[in-house]
Amino acid sequence: MRYLGIVAGLAGAGLIWACAPEERIPSGAALYADYCAACHGTDARGSGPEAAGVGVAIPDLTTIAARNNGVFPLTEVMSKVDGYARGRSPGRSVMPELGHLLDGPLVRVDTGDGMLTPTPAKLIAIADYLKTVQR
Ligand code: HEC
Repeated sequence: MRYLGIVAGLAGAGLIWACAPEERIPSGAALYADYCAACHGTDARGSGPEAAGVGVAIPDLTTIAARNNGVFPLTEVMSKVDGYARGRSPGRSVMPELGHLLDGPLVRVDTGDGMLTPTPAKLIAIADYLKTVQR
């Protein structure tokens, strides 16, 4: 029993989590290639092989910043992708299962409200990647 208590205490302190074998996070580019390029295109301009079959216009993801006064809205992009992944975005009917993007380790990030919000590391990786392809 005492052992259990110690284990629970360590888990509570996040120590066990820290000791767990680290899951390797694929790069944002690799995640993009796996989950997004089919529709948005390898160049992110919206002409992936599946784009034609989707039935709605696929947005050009390289112009997100340009369409937002030159600022890449990292938090908004993350919450949009998060929404797709959880199936609660307007485009959910065309978005495939993206829930895997929310699996794995969480990283605390300031999402603009000054609070550190635990955020899936893969989500951050993919949003960071999209930031690098802005033109
Ligand atoms: C099945 C095709 C498909 C796949 C796969 C897909 N998307 Fe989309 N995406 C769309 C469509 C269609 C829209 C526009 C309509 C909507 O909002 O649903 C969109 C919209 C978006 C937007 C909003 C763009 C803007 O200009 O505001 C972002 C960001 C986005 N997708 C990112 C991603 C990411 C990241 C992935 C991979 C994890 C992904 N998408 C995978 C079809 C897809």
